[in-house]
Amino acid sequence: MGLGECLIGAAELRNVTQVIRSQTLFRYYGVGNAPHPNSFASRVERAGEAMHGVPYALGVSSGTAALEVALGALGVGPGDEVILPVWSWVSCFTAIVRVGGQPVLAEVDETLNLDPKEIERLTTPRTRGVLVVHYQGVPADLDPILRAAKKRGLWVLEDNAESLGTTYKGRRVGSLGDIAICSFQQRKVVTTGEGGMVLTRSPKLYERAVRMSDLGLYRQEHQARAPLKEPMFPGSNFRMGELTAAVALAQLARVDPMVKKVRALREVLLREMGDLPGVTWRRIPDPSGDIGFESYLFMPKAEQARAVRARAGERGITLTPHTGTYAQTAREYVKNRSTHAGARGPFQHFQDWPAPGYRPEDFPRTHDLAERLIAIPIGVLFRKSEVARIGRVLREEIRRELG
Ligand SMILES: Cc1ncc(COP(=O)(O)O)c(C=O)c1O
Repeated sequence: MGLGECLIGAAELRNVTQVIRSQTLFRYYGVGNAPHPNSFASRVERAGEAMHGVPYALGVSSGTAALEVALGALGVGPGDEVILPVWSWVSCFTAIVRVGGQPVLAEVDETLNLDPKEIERLTTPRTRGVLVVHYQGVPADLDPILRAAKKRGLWVLEDNAESLGTTYKGRRVGSLGDIAICSFQQRKVVTTGEGGMVLTRSPKLYERAVRMSDLGLYRQEHQARAPLKEPMFPGSNFRMGELTAAVALAQLARVDPMVKKVRALREVLLREMGDLPGVTWRRIPDPSGDIGFESYLFMPKAEQARAVRARAGERGITLTPHTGTYAQTAREYVKNRSTHAGARGPFQHFQDWPAPGYRPEDFPRTHDLAERLIAIPIGVLFRKSEVARIGRVLREEIRRELG
């Protein structure tokens, strides 16, 4: 469930109206080629930087585009391996394939994020980096992940598409790895329908990200922020337009109040549910920093989770994740190792397919967790009484199931 979508209102309208009145919908210039001195795109980038405490943000056209831009900035290409959690969104895998790299799938742990121990198990001489996904409002356990990556000379790309506004030990998620991405798609914490952002501390990665997103160009506006140093290379067009940026600027300002509200509602939920012996809650590596818009618990057995979900469903409460995320091994592109270039993809060197590392049975822990999970939704406009009812219904159904 998106949070920001419920709050689209006067501020978004005011900004969009300003863009329309200006007749300048492109970030770099407007009518008659007049340069744009203070575009919404650059303003939202400054807001993203201030929010995350990083020197460089770049607005792009989607979270998927942001992933391709970040991977391109990091120089991922044919022969390079990138470790990512098997429990992750489509784009996490496909963006790596699109830049020619080979996704290497890893188990998640009870955080539903990458198990840090997997980095040691999966690193080979071809591994370049780790794509960490902060799944549904909860930060991954970044300390051990960053340690394991650094020890092996790997970069860390944080996918913060689903967790804008979370912190890890007092610092914003998205500011801790080498580079990070956000998404502003409809279902995300804030939305512009389509949109995304890349964040980094590195002037080199910033310049390369700009070039990836803007045809290989590095325009004056960006040169003024980080001097031109890198050679040009063919980029794509993943630029953010002014209408998107206008909405994004208004939405970003909503993040912190929204998180505060949702966290308070989650307290109501937890109070109402009380102690439930037998269930295990999703482990939150830093409980002071998650958002809480989708709280997860695990039932002891899969059939118990199915029964609770079914009965709560009959009482009007949906307890399945709202992301459409499931294990990558079940996606058609993994099952068929398909790519836009037919068989000439990063998996051609495997004789048999699915090869070890791409089969459901290679991820017993992730599959077990996925079968036993219950996802409890909290929307930003939910009333306390609604959340309390969800908590009550769940407590009843879980107790009934566990006897
Ligand atoms: C974890 C994750 N990464 C990347 C994306 C891609 O974002 P977008 O939909 O903006 O392309 C999404 C959302 O769809 C996501 O959930």
